[in-house]
Amino acid sequence: MSQSVLASAAGVAVQAGRRRTFAVISHPDAGKSTMTEALALHARVIGQAGAVHGKGDRRGVVSDWMAMEQQRGISVTSAALQFSYRDTVINLLDTPGHADFSEDTYRVLTAVDSAVMLLDAAKGLEPQTLKLFEVCRQRRIPVITFINKWDRPGHDALALMDEIEQRIGLKPTPLTWPVGIAGQFHGVIDRRTGVFTRMQRSPGGADLAIEEEMSAADAAERYGADWDTASEELDLLEMTGADHDQAAFLAATSTPVLFGAAVANLGVRQLLNILVELAPAPTAQPTVAGTDQPVDGTFSGFVFKIQANMNRAHRDQVAFMRICSGRFERGMVVTHAGTGKPFATKYAQQMFGQARDTIDEAYPGDVVGLVNATALGIGDTLYVGAPVQYPPLPSFPPEHFAVVRTSDTSAFKRFRRGIEQLDGEGVVQVLRSEQRGDQAPVLAAVGPMQFEVATHRLEAEFGVRVQLDHLPYEVAARTDAAGREILKKESNVEVMTRVRDDALLAVFPHRWRMRTIAGRHPDLRLDA
Ligand code: G4P
Repeated sequence: MSQSVLASAAGVAVQAGRRRTFAVISHPDAGKSTMTEALALHARVIGQAGAVHGKGDRRGVVSDWMAMEQQRGISVTSAALQFSYRDTVINLLDTPGHADFSEDTYRVLTAVDSAVMLLDAAKGLEPQTLKLFEVCRQRRIPVITFINKWDRPGHDALALMDEIEQRIGLKPTPLTWPVGIAGQFHGVIDRRTGVFTRMQRSPGGADLAIEEEMSAADAAERYGADWDTASEELDLLEMTGADHDQAAFLAATSTPVLFGAAVANLGVRQLLNILVELAPAPTAQPTVAGTDQPVDGTFSGFVFKIQANMNRAHRDQVAFMRICSGRFERGMVVTHAGTGKPFATKYAQQMFGQARDTIDEAYPGDVVGLVNATALGIGDTLYVGAPVQYPPLPSFPPEHFAVVRTSDTSAFKRFRRGIEQLDGEGVVQVLRSEQRGDQAPVLAAVGPMQFEVATHRLEAEFGVRVQLDHLPYEVAARTDAAGREILKKESNVEVMTRVRDDALLAVFPHRWRMRTIAGRHPDLRLDA
Protein backbone atom coordinates (compact mmCIF):
# COMPACT_ATOMS: atom_id res chain seq x y z
CA MET A 1 0.00 0.00 0.00
CA SER A 2 1.39 3.45 -0.86
CA GLN A 3 2.32 5.97 1.83
CA SER A 4 -0.51 8.31 0.82
CA VAL A 5 -3.15 5.57 0.98
CA LEU A 6 -1.93 4.60 4.45
CA ALA A 7 -1.93 8.23 5.54
CA SER A 8 -5.49 8.79 4.32
CA ALA A 9 -6.72 5.58 6.00
CA ALA A 10 -5.20 6.84 9.24
CA GLY A 11 -6.93 10.19 8.67
CA VAL A 12 -10.27 8.43 8.22
CA ALA A 13 -9.77 6.40 11.40
CA VAL A 14 -9.07 9.60 13.35
CA GLN A 15 -12.14 11.33 11.89
CA ALA A 16 -14.34 8.28 12.59
CA GLY A 17 -13.03 8.19 16.16
CA ARG A 18 -14.25 11.79 16.62
CA ARG A 19 -17.83 10.93 15.61
CA ARG A 20 -20.74 10.17 17.92
CA THR A 21 -23.87 9.23 16.00
CA PHE A 22 -26.97 8.72 18.10
CA ALA A 23 -30.73 9.17 18.31
CA VAL A 24 -33.00 10.11 21.19
CA ILE A 25 -35.66 7.52 21.89
CA SER A 26 -38.63 8.55 23.95
CA HIS A 27 -42.38 8.54 24.28
CA PRO A 28 -44.11 11.61 22.81
CA ASP A 29 -43.99 14.55 25.22
CA ALA A 30 -41.03 13.24 27.24
CA GLY A 31 -39.07 16.21 25.87
CA LYS A 32 -37.20 15.02 22.79
CA SER A 33 -37.61 18.25 20.83
CA THR A 34 -36.70 20.28 23.88
CA MET A 35 -33.60 18.14 24.42
CA THR A 36 -32.61 18.53 20.76
CA GLU A 37 -32.75 22.29 21.16
CA ALA A 38 -30.82 22.15 24.41
CA LEU A 39 -28.07 19.99 22.90
CA ALA A 40 -27.77 22.30 19.92
CA LEU A 41 -27.66 25.28 22.26
CA HIS A 42 -24.76 23.78 24.17
CA ALA A 43 -22.94 23.22 20.91
CA ARG A 44 -23.83 26.79 19.93
CA VAL A 45 -25.40 25.75 16.67
CA ILE A 46 -28.13 28.19 17.48
CA GLY A 47 -28.14 31.28 19.63
CA GLN A 48 -31.04 30.53 21.89
CA ALA A 49 -32.88 27.34 22.63
CA GLY A 50 -35.95 27.24 20.43
CA ALA A 51 -34.55 27.99 17.04
CA VAL A 52 -34.38 24.40 15.91
CA HIS A 53 -37.68 22.91 16.84
CA GLY A 54 -39.51 25.16 19.22
CA LYS A 55 -43.03 24.79 20.35
CA GLY A 56 -45.47 27.60 20.93
CA ASP A 57 -44.04 30.97 19.91
CA ARG A 58 -40.64 29.45 19.32
CA ARG A 59 -42.04 27.01 16.84
CA GLY A 60 -40.28 25.44 13.94
CA VAL A 61 -37.81 27.75 12.29
CA VAL A 62 -36.14 24.75 10.80
CA SER A 63 -38.05 21.54 11.30
CA ASP A 64 -41.64 20.70 10.39
CA TRP A 65 -41.43 19.92 6.72
CA MET A 66 -44.99 19.08 6.10
CA ALA A 67 -48.10 21.11 6.66
CA MET A 68 -49.45 18.17 8.57
CA GLU A 69 -46.59 18.28 10.99
CA GLN A 70 -47.39 21.88 11.70
CA GLN A 71 -51.05 21.18 12.25
CA ARG A 72 -50.33 18.35 14.63
CA GLY A 73 -47.16 19.71 16.12
CA ILE A 74 -45.34 16.46 15.62
CA SER A 75 -42.31 15.53 13.66
CA VAL A 76 -43.05 12.79 11.13
CA THR A 77 -39.93 13.11 9.04
CA SER A 78 -36.35 12.52 9.99
CA ALA A 79 -33.01 14.06 9.35
CA ALA A 80 -29.73 14.57 11.13
CA LEU A 81 -28.41 17.51 13.08
CA GLN A 82 -24.63 17.78 13.10
CA PHE A 83 -22.60 19.91 15.46
CA SER A 84 -19.22 19.95 17.16
CA TYR A 85 -18.77 19.75 20.87
CA ARG A 86 -15.31 19.79 22.44
CA ASP A 87 -13.30 18.14 19.65
CA THR A 88 -16.06 15.72 18.74
CA VAL A 89 -18.51 15.77 15.85
CA ILE A 90 -21.98 14.89 17.08
CA ASN A 91 -24.59 13.53 14.67
CA LEU A 92 -28.03 13.57 16.24
CA LEU A 93 -30.48 11.65 14.08
CA ASP A 94 -34.02 12.91 14.43
CA THR A 95 -36.71 10.32 14.95
CA PRO A 96 -40.45 10.80 14.57
CA GLY A 97 -41.99 11.29 17.96
CA HIS A 98 -45.48 9.99 17.44
CA ALA A 99 -46.50 6.80 19.20
CA ASP A 100 -48.25 5.44 16.12
CA PHE A 101 -45.66 6.22 13.56
CA SER A 102 -42.81 3.95 14.26
CA GLU A 103 -41.54 2.14 11.16
CA ASP A 104 -39.47 5.13 10.18
CA THR A 105 -38.00 5.42 13.67
CA TYR A 106 -36.97 1.80 13.60
CA ARG A 107 -35.07 2.42 10.39
CA VAL A 108 -33.28 5.42 11.86
CA LEU A 109 -32.05 3.14 14.63
CA THR A 110 -30.16 1.06 12.04
CA ALA A 111 -28.00 4.11 11.40
CA VAL A 112 -26.90 5.00 14.96
CA ASP A 113 -24.08 3.81 17.20
CA SER A 114 -25.86 4.62 20.46
CA ALA A 115 -29.15 5.96 21.77
CA VAL A 116 -30.24 8.32 24.52
CA MET A 117 -33.37 7.05 26.24
CA LEU A 118 -35.25 10.05 27.55
CA LEU A 119 -37.68 9.36 30.39
CA ASP A 120 -40.19 11.75 31.89
CA ALA A 121 -39.47 11.65 35.65
CA ALA A 122 -43.19 11.59 36.40
CA LYS A 123 -44.01 8.83 33.94
CA GLY A 124 -41.05 6.48 33.86
CA LEU A 125 -41.02 3.92 31.06
CA GLU A 126 -43.86 4.52 28.61
CA PRO A 127 -45.11 2.28 25.79
CA GLN A 128 -43.27 3.90 22.88
CA THR A 129 -40.02 4.02 24.87
CA LEU A 130 -40.37 0.32 25.57
CA LYS A 131 -40.93 -0.49 21.89
CA LEU A 132 -37.95 1.56 20.79
CA PHE A 133 -35.82 0.14 23.54
CA GLU A 134 -36.68 -3.36 22.30
CA VAL A 135 -35.24 -2.43 18.89
CA CYS A 136 -32.08 -1.16 20.62
CA ARG A 137 -31.82 -4.42 22.51
CA GLN A 138 -32.19 -6.50 19.35
CA ARG A 139 -29.57 -4.44 17.58
CA ARG A 140 -27.37 -4.28 20.72
CA ILE A 141 -27.29 -0.51 20.64
CA PRO A 142 -25.73 0.96 23.81
CA VAL A 143 -28.24 3.17 25.63
CA ILE A 144 -27.64 6.18 27.88
CA THR A 145 -30.66 7.06 30.05
CA PHE A 146 -31.57 10.68 30.78
CA ILE A 147 -34.24 11.21 33.42
CA ASN A 148 -35.88 14.42 32.23
CA LYS A 149 -38.18 16.97 33.90
CA TRP A 150 -36.49 16.68 37.31
CA ASP A 151 -37.56 20.29 37.81
CA ARG A 152 -41.09 19.20 38.55
CA PRO A 153 -42.68 16.54 40.76
CA GLY A 154 -42.08 12.98 39.68
CA HIS A 155 -41.13 9.51 40.86
CA ASP A 156 -38.47 8.75 43.40
CA ALA A 157 -35.00 8.41 41.83
CA LEU A 158 -34.32 4.95 43.28
CA ALA A 159 -37.76 3.75 42.21
CA LEU A 160 -36.95 4.83 38.65
CA MET A 161 -33.72 2.82 38.80
CA ASP A 162 -35.73 -0.20 39.94
CA GLU A 163 -38.21 0.28 37.16
CA ILE A 164 -35.47 0.30 34.52
CA GLU A 165 -33.89 -2.82 35.93
CA GLN A 166 -37.14 -4.74 36.45
CA ARG A 167 -38.96 -3.84 33.27
CA ILE A 168 -36.23 -3.81 30.66
CA GLY A 169 -33.49 -5.81 32.31
CA LEU A 170 -30.79 -3.17 31.84
CA LYS A 171 -28.62 -2.50 34.85
CA PRO A 172 -28.84 1.23 35.61
CA THR A 173 -25.48 2.72 36.57
CA PRO A 174 -26.10 6.37 37.48
CA LEU A 175 -23.22 8.68 36.63
CA THR A 176 -24.86 11.66 38.27
CA TRP A 177 -27.28 11.65 41.18
CA PRO A 178 -29.75 14.42 41.97
CA VAL A 179 -29.74 16.37 45.19
CA GLY A 180 -33.38 17.20 45.87
CA ILE A 181 -36.40 15.16 44.89
CA ALA A 182 -38.10 15.71 41.53
CA GLY A 183 -39.55 19.20 41.70
CA GLN A 184 -36.84 20.47 44.08
CA PHE A 185 -33.75 20.07 41.97
CA HIS A 186 -30.62 21.63 43.44
CA GLY A 187 -27.97 19.98 41.30
CA VAL A 188 -26.15 16.69 40.78
CA ILE A 189 -23.30 14.77 42.34
CA ASP A 190 -20.90 13.25 39.82
CA ARG A 191 -20.59 9.69 41.12
CA ARG A 192 -17.17 9.18 39.61
CA THR A 193 -15.53 12.28 41.11
CA GLY A 194 -17.83 12.97 44.04
CA VAL A 195 -18.08 16.62 42.96
CA PHE A 196 -21.42 18.37 43.52
CA THR A 197 -22.52 20.86 40.88
CA ARG A 198 -25.26 23.24 41.83
CA MET A 199 -27.50 24.00 38.85
CA GLN A 200 -29.87 26.83 38.24
CA ARG A 201 -32.01 27.73 35.31
CA SER A 202 -30.81 30.88 33.54
CA PRO A 203 -33.32 33.74 33.67
CA GLY A 204 -35.99 32.81 31.12
CA GLY A 205 -34.40 29.37 30.73
CA ALA A 206 -33.32 30.01 27.15
CA ASP A 207 -29.61 30.15 27.91
CA LEU A 208 -27.08 27.73 29.38
CA ALA A 209 -27.76 26.75 32.96
CA ILE A 210 -25.84 28.50 35.70
CA GLU A 211 -23.53 25.97 37.31
CA GLU A 212 -21.36 26.19 40.38
CA GLU A 213 -19.22 23.50 41.97
CA MET A 214 -19.64 23.33 45.74
CA SER A 215 -17.79 21.43 48.42
CA ALA A 216 -19.64 18.63 50.20
CA ALA A 217 -19.52 20.59 53.47
CA ASP A 218 -21.09 23.70 51.92
CA ALA A 219 -23.71 21.65 50.10
CA ALA A 220 -24.55 19.69 53.27
CA GLU A 221 -25.07 22.89 55.16
CA ARG A 222 -27.12 24.50 52.46
CA TYR A 223 -29.34 21.55 51.48
CA GLY A 224 -29.64 19.79 54.85
CA ALA A 225 -32.06 16.86 54.61
CA ASP A 226 -31.95 16.79 50.80
CA TRP A 227 -28.18 16.38 50.91
CA ASP A 228 -28.43 13.63 53.56
CA THR A 229 -30.99 11.75 51.48
CA ALA A 230 -28.82 11.95 48.37
CA SER A 231 -25.80 10.74 50.38
CA GLU A 232 -27.75 7.77 51.74
CA GLU A 233 -28.97 6.90 48.27
CA LEU A 234 -25.42 7.06 46.96
CA ASP A 235 -24.31 4.62 49.67
CA LEU A 236 -27.10 2.27 48.64
CA LEU A 237 -26.08 2.49 44.99
CA GLU A 238 -22.53 1.70 45.91
CA MET A 239 -23.64 -1.34 47.90
CA THR A 240 -25.62 -2.70 44.96
CA GLY A 241 -22.62 -2.32 42.64
CA ALA A 242 -24.40 0.15 40.37
CA ASP A 243 -21.12 1.58 39.08
CA HIS A 244 -20.45 2.35 35.46
CA ASP A 245 -18.94 -0.54 33.56
CA GLN A 246 -17.84 0.47 30.06
CA ALA A 247 -17.80 -3.09 28.69
CA ALA A 248 -21.33 -3.75 29.97
CA PHE A 249 -22.56 -0.44 28.53
CA LEU A 250 -21.06 -1.23 25.11
CA ALA A 251 -22.55 -4.73 25.27
CA ALA A 252 -25.93 -3.07 25.94
CA THR A 253 -26.43 -4.81 29.29
CA SER A 254 -26.07 -1.72 31.48
CA THR A 255 -27.11 1.88 31.00
CA PRO A 256 -25.43 4.98 32.42
CA VAL A 257 -28.08 7.27 33.93
CA LEU A 258 -28.13 11.07 34.18
CA PHE A 259 -30.68 13.45 35.68
CA GLY A 260 -31.78 16.84 34.45
CA ALA A 261 -34.38 19.12 32.94
CA ALA A 262 -33.99 19.80 29.24
CA VAL A 263 -36.35 22.77 29.32
CA ALA A 264 -34.04 24.60 31.71
CA ASN A 265 -30.86 23.18 30.12
CA LEU A 266 -30.04 21.41 33.40
CA GLY A 267 -27.87 18.31 33.06
CA VAL A 268 -27.52 18.75 29.30
CA ARG A 269 -23.84 19.64 29.41
CA GLN A 270 -23.25 16.50 31.48
CA LEU A 271 -25.06 14.44 28.85
CA LEU A 272 -22.91 15.84 26.06
CA ASN A 273 -19.77 15.10 28.06
CA ILE A 274 -20.87 11.51 28.57
CA LEU A 275 -21.59 11.14 24.85
CA VAL A 276 -18.09 12.36 24.08
CA GLU A 277 -16.36 10.34 26.78
CA LEU A 278 -18.28 7.07 26.81
CA ALA A 279 -20.54 6.62 23.77
CA PRO A 280 -19.02 4.48 21.03
CA ALA A 281 -17.56 5.93 17.84
CA PRO A 282 -18.44 4.17 14.55
CA THR A 283 -16.99 0.67 14.32
CA ALA A 284 -16.61 -1.99 11.61
CA GLN A 285 -19.99 -2.92 10.11
CA PRO A 286 -21.08 -6.47 9.29
CA THR A 287 -21.71 -7.09 5.58
CA VAL A 288 -23.86 -9.63 3.75
CA ALA A 289 -20.67 -11.57 2.88
CA GLY A 290 -20.16 -12.25 6.60
CA THR A 291 -17.11 -9.97 6.86
CA ASP A 292 -16.79 -6.71 8.77
CA GLN A 293 -16.09 -3.55 6.79
CA PRO A 294 -13.51 -1.53 8.77
CA VAL A 295 -14.19 2.21 9.16
CA ASP A 296 -10.89 3.03 7.47
CA GLY A 297 -11.65 0.85 4.43
CA THR A 298 -12.71 2.33 1.10
CA PHE A 299 -15.90 4.40 1.04
CA SER A 300 -19.22 2.68 1.78
CA GLY A 301 -22.58 3.64 3.21
CA PHE A 302 -26.25 2.69 3.15
CA VAL A 303 -29.51 4.54 2.62
CA PHE A 304 -31.73 4.44 5.72
CA LYS A 305 -34.31 6.99 4.70
CA ILE A 306 -35.86 8.41 1.57
CA GLN A 307 -37.82 11.63 1.61
CA ALA A 308 -39.47 13.32 -1.34
CA ASN A 309 -40.77 16.83 -1.77
CA MET A 310 -39.36 18.00 1.53
CA ASN A 311 -40.26 21.54 0.83
CA ARG A 312 -41.85 23.42 -1.96
CA ALA A 313 -38.72 25.33 -2.91
CA HIS A 314 -36.92 22.07 -3.64
CA ARG A 315 -39.19 19.51 -5.27
CA ASP A 316 -36.89 16.59 -5.22
CA GLN A 317 -36.13 13.25 -3.63
CA VAL A 318 -33.46 12.99 -1.00
CA ALA A 319 -31.83 9.73 0.07
CA PHE A 320 -30.24 9.90 3.51
CA MET A 321 -27.11 7.81 3.66
CA ARG A 322 -25.15 6.82 6.75
CA ILE A 323 -21.47 6.54 5.98
CA CYS A 324 -19.92 3.34 7.31
CA SER A 325 -16.37 3.47 5.97
CA GLY A 326 -13.93 5.71 4.16
CA ARG A 327 -14.03 9.36 3.25
CA PHE A 328 -16.97 10.75 1.30
CA GLU A 329 -16.27 13.56 -1.09
CA ARG A 330 -19.00 15.45 -2.89
CA GLY A 331 -18.98 14.66 -6.58
CA MET A 332 -17.40 11.24 -6.14
CA VAL A 333 -18.92 8.52 -8.29
CA VAL A 334 -19.98 5.56 -6.19
CA THR A 335 -21.37 2.16 -7.16
CA HIS A 336 -24.90 1.13 -6.31
CA ALA A 337 -24.48 -2.37 -4.86
CA GLY A 338 -27.92 -3.57 -5.98
CA THR A 339 -27.54 -2.78 -9.68
CA GLY A 340 -23.77 -2.34 -10.06
CA LYS A 341 -24.52 1.02 -11.71
CA PRO A 342 -22.53 4.19 -11.01
CA PHE A 343 -24.17 6.96 -9.02
CA ALA A 344 -22.79 10.50 -9.09
CA THR A 345 -23.00 12.35 -5.78
CA LYS A 346 -22.94 15.82 -7.26
CA TYR A 347 -25.60 17.14 -4.94
CA ALA A 348 -24.67 16.03 -1.48
CA GLN A 349 -26.14 17.95 1.39
CA GLN A 350 -26.37 18.00 5.07
CA MET A 351 -29.76 18.88 6.31
CA PHE A 352 -31.92 19.32 9.28
CA GLY A 353 -35.46 20.30 8.54
CA GLN A 354 -35.45 22.90 5.84
CA ALA A 355 -31.91 24.10 6.41
CA ARG A 356 -29.51 22.69 3.89
CA ASP A 357 -25.80 23.06 3.49
CA THR A 358 -23.79 21.63 0.70
CA ILE A 359 -21.15 19.36 2.14
CA ASP A 360 -17.81 18.65 0.60
CA GLU A 361 -16.61 15.76 2.67
CA ALA A 362 -17.92 13.44 5.32
CA TYR A 363 -16.70 10.51 7.41
CA PRO A 364 -18.02 7.33 9.02
CA GLY A 365 -20.95 8.11 11.28
CA ASP A 366 -22.00 11.16 9.26
CA VAL A 367 -25.29 11.39 7.41
CA VAL A 368 -25.35 12.76 3.90
CA GLY A 369 -28.49 13.72 2.02
CA LEU A 370 -28.22 12.80 -1.65
CA VAL A 371 -30.49 15.00 -3.71
CA ASN A 372 -32.23 13.82 -6.89
CA ALA A 373 -31.63 10.28 -5.82
CA THR A 374 -34.58 8.62 -7.56
CA ALA A 375 -32.44 5.58 -8.38
CA LEU A 376 -31.90 4.82 -4.68
CA GLY A 377 -34.13 2.85 -2.34
CA ILE A 378 -34.21 2.18 1.37
CA GLY A 379 -31.44 -0.16 2.50
CA ASP A 380 -29.34 0.29 -0.66
CA THR A 381 -25.58 0.13 -0.24
CA LEU A 382 -23.22 2.50 -2.07
CA TYR A 383 -19.49 1.90 -2.25
CA VAL A 384 -16.23 2.70 -3.99
CA GLY A 385 -13.64 0.05 -4.88
CA ALA A 386 -14.13 -3.51 -3.69
CA PRO A 387 -17.85 -4.41 -3.58
CA VAL A 388 -19.56 -4.11 -0.21
CA GLN A 389 -23.16 -4.89 0.62
CA TYR A 390 -24.86 -4.23 3.93
CA PRO A 391 -27.78 -6.39 5.08
CA PRO A 392 -31.27 -5.21 4.09
CA LEU A 393 -33.00 -3.03 6.67
CA PRO A 394 -35.43 -4.92 8.86
CA SER A 395 -39.00 -4.76 7.69
CA PHE A 396 -41.69 -4.80 10.33
CA PRO A 397 -44.84 -6.90 10.23
CA PRO A 398 -47.74 -4.56 9.44
CA GLU A 399 -50.73 -4.53 11.78
CA HIS A 400 -53.06 -2.20 9.85
CA PHE A 401 -54.42 -2.72 6.35
CA ALA A 402 -56.57 -0.59 4.06
CA VAL A 403 -57.59 -0.62 0.41
CA VAL A 404 -56.86 2.66 -1.30
CA ARG A 405 -58.78 3.87 -4.37
CA THR A 406 -59.41 7.00 -6.33
CA SER A 407 -62.74 7.64 -7.96
CA ASP A 408 -61.17 10.18 -10.32
CA THR A 409 -60.30 8.07 -13.38
CA SER A 410 -58.37 10.91 -15.01
CA ALA A 411 -55.97 10.89 -12.05
CA PHE A 412 -55.14 7.23 -12.22
CA LYS A 413 -51.62 7.70 -13.59
CA ARG A 414 -50.76 10.15 -10.83
CA PHE A 415 -52.36 7.82 -8.31
CA ARG A 416 -50.08 5.00 -9.44
CA ARG A 417 -47.01 7.22 -9.38
CA GLY A 418 -47.88 8.44 -5.91
CA ILE A 419 -48.34 4.92 -4.58
CA GLU A 420 -45.00 3.87 -6.08
CA GLN A 421 -43.31 6.87 -4.50
CA LEU A 422 -44.73 6.15 -1.04
CA ASP A 423 -43.73 2.51 -1.36
CA GLY A 424 -40.18 3.46 -2.38
CA GLU A 425 -39.86 5.78 0.59
CA GLY A 426 -41.22 3.15 2.93
CA VAL A 427 -44.01 5.48 4.08
CA VAL A 428 -46.33 2.47 3.85
CA GLN A 429 -45.95 -1.04 2.52
CA VAL A 430 -47.93 -1.61 -0.68
CA LEU A 431 -49.58 -4.98 -1.24
CA ARG A 432 -51.18 -6.34 -4.39
CA SER A 433 -54.24 -8.44 -3.96
CA GLU A 434 -55.31 -10.69 -6.83
CA GLN A 435 -58.97 -10.31 -6.05
CA ARG A 436 -58.88 -6.49 -5.91
CA GLY A 437 -56.64 -5.83 -8.88
CA ASP A 438 -54.28 -3.00 -9.78
CA GLN A 439 -56.74 -0.20 -9.26
CA ALA A 440 -57.15 -0.98 -5.59
CA PRO A 441 -53.80 -1.67 -3.92
CA VAL A 442 -53.73 -2.46 -0.23
CA LEU A 443 -51.67 -0.25 2.06
CA ALA A 444 -50.13 -1.92 5.08
CA ALA A 445 -48.68 -0.09 8.05
CA VAL A 446 -47.13 -0.69 11.43
CA GLY A 447 -48.98 2.33 12.86
CA PRO A 448 -52.23 3.88 11.58
CA MET A 449 -50.65 7.31 11.29
CA GLN A 450 -48.72 6.05 8.28
CA PHE A 451 -52.08 5.99 6.43
CA GLU A 452 -52.72 9.62 7.27
CA VAL A 453 -49.32 10.60 5.98
CA ALA A 454 -49.92 8.58 2.79
CA THR A 455 -53.34 10.05 1.99
CA HIS A 456 -52.17 13.55 2.83
CA ARG A 457 -49.21 13.24 0.51
CA LEU A 458 -51.20 11.69 -2.34
CA GLU A 459 -53.44 14.71 -2.21
CA ALA A 460 -50.85 17.42 -1.55
CA GLU A 461 -48.09 16.19 -3.84
CA PHE A 462 -49.87 14.21 -6.54
CA GLY A 463 -53.24 15.97 -6.59
CA VAL A 464 -55.18 12.76 -6.05
CA ARG A 465 -58.06 12.47 -3.64
CA VAL A 466 -58.31 8.95 -2.36
CA GLN A 467 -60.64 6.84 -0.35
CA LEU A 468 -59.39 4.37 2.25
CA ASP A 469 -61.36 1.30 3.28
CA HIS A 470 -59.89 -0.35 6.33
CA LEU A 471 -59.63 -4.12 6.21
CA PRO A 472 -60.36 -6.22 9.29
CA TYR A 473 -56.87 -7.70 9.56
CA GLU A 474 -54.29 -7.27 12.29
CA VAL A 475 -51.68 -9.95 11.77
CA ALA A 476 -49.42 -10.70 8.80
CA ALA A 477 -47.12 -13.67 8.23
CA ARG A 478 -44.84 -14.62 5.35
CA THR A 479 -45.93 -17.66 3.38
CA ASP A 480 -45.00 -19.29 0.05
CA ALA A 481 -46.76 -20.41 -3.16
CA ALA A 482 -47.79 -23.73 -1.62
CA GLY A 483 -49.14 -21.86 1.40
CA ARG A 484 -51.20 -19.60 -0.84
CA GLU A 485 -52.91 -22.66 -2.35
CA ILE A 486 -53.69 -24.08 1.08
CA LEU A 487 -55.04 -20.75 2.36
CA LYS A 488 -57.37 -20.29 -0.63
CA LYS A 489 -59.58 -22.94 0.95
CA GLU A 490 -59.75 -21.15 4.30
CA SER A 491 -62.02 -18.27 5.27
CA ASN A 492 -60.97 -15.13 7.15
CA VAL A 493 -57.53 -15.06 5.57
CA GLU A 494 -56.11 -13.51 2.43
CA VAL A 495 -52.75 -13.81 0.72
CA MET A 496 -51.27 -10.68 -0.88
CA THR A 497 -47.98 -9.86 -2.58
CA ARG A 498 -45.79 -7.14 -1.09
CA VAL A 499 -44.76 -5.08 -4.09
CA ARG A 500 -41.40 -4.02 -2.61
CA ASP A 501 -39.91 -7.53 -2.45
CA ASP A 502 -42.56 -9.86 -3.96
CA ALA A 503 -42.97 -11.49 -0.54
CA LEU A 504 -46.26 -13.35 -0.07
CA LEU A 505 -48.04 -12.16 3.07
CA ALA A 506 -50.96 -14.02 4.62
CA VAL A 507 -53.14 -11.66 6.63
CA PHE A 508 -55.48 -12.67 9.44
CA PRO A 509 -58.00 -10.82 11.60
CA HIS A 510 -56.20 -11.90 14.77
CA ARG A 511 -53.49 -14.15 16.08
CA TRP A 512 -55.75 -16.98 17.20
CA ARG A 513 -57.25 -17.29 13.71
CA MET A 514 -53.72 -17.68 12.39
CA ARG A 515 -52.99 -20.32 15.03
CA THR A 516 -56.17 -22.27 14.28
CA ILE A 517 -55.37 -22.41 10.59
CA ALA A 518 -51.72 -23.26 11.24
CA GLY A 519 -52.85 -26.07 13.54
CA ARG A 520 -54.96 -27.57 10.76
CA HIS A 521 -52.11 -27.55 8.21
CA PRO A 522 -48.87 -28.74 9.74
CA ASP A 523 -47.02 -28.21 6.40
CA LEU A 524 -48.14 -24.61 6.00
CA ARG A 525 -45.28 -22.09 6.06
CA LEU A 526 -46.13 -19.07 8.19
CA ASP A 527 -43.39 -16.79 9.52
CA ALA A 528 -44.87 -14.06 11.66
P1 G4P B 1 -41.44 15.58 22.54
O1 G4P B 1 -40.61 16.20 21.46
O2 G4P B 1 -40.79 14.41 23.20
O3 G4P B 1 -42.85 15.30 22.17
O4 G4P B 1 -41.55 16.64 23.74
P2 G4P B 1 -41.33 18.20 23.77
O5 G4P B 1 -39.90 18.54 23.72
O6 G4P B 1 -42.23 18.85 22.81
O7 G4P B 1 -41.82 18.48 25.25
C1 G4P B 1 -43.14 18.17 25.67
C2 G4P B 1 -43.54 19.13 26.78
O8 G4P B 1 -42.69 18.91 27.91
C3 G4P B 1 -43.37 20.59 26.41
O9 G4P B 1 -44.37 21.31 27.09
C4 G4P B 1 -42.02 20.92 27.00
O10 G4P B 1 -41.87 22.30 27.27
C5 G4P B 1 -42.05 20.11 28.27
N1 G4P B 1 -40.70 19.79 28.77
C6 G4P B 1 -39.65 19.28 28.09
N2 G4P B 1 -38.60 19.12 28.90
C7 G4P B 1 -38.99 19.55 30.12
C8 G4P B 1 -38.34 19.65 31.39
O11 G4P B 1 -37.18 19.32 31.56
N3 G4P B 1 -39.09 20.14 32.41
C9 G4P B 1 -40.38 20.53 32.27
N4 G4P B 1 -41.02 20.98 33.33
N5 G4P B 1 -41.02 20.46 31.10
C10 G4P B 1 -40.33 19.97 30.04
P3 G4P B 1 -45.66 21.83 26.36
O12 G4P B 1 -46.50 22.43 27.40
O13 G4P B 1 -46.23 20.77 25.50
O14 G4P B 1 -45.08 22.92 25.38
P4 G4P B 1 -44.57 24.37 25.76
O15 G4P B 1 -45.75 25.22 25.48
O16 G4P B 1 -44.12 24.34 27.17
O17 G4P B 1 -43.44 24.66 24.82
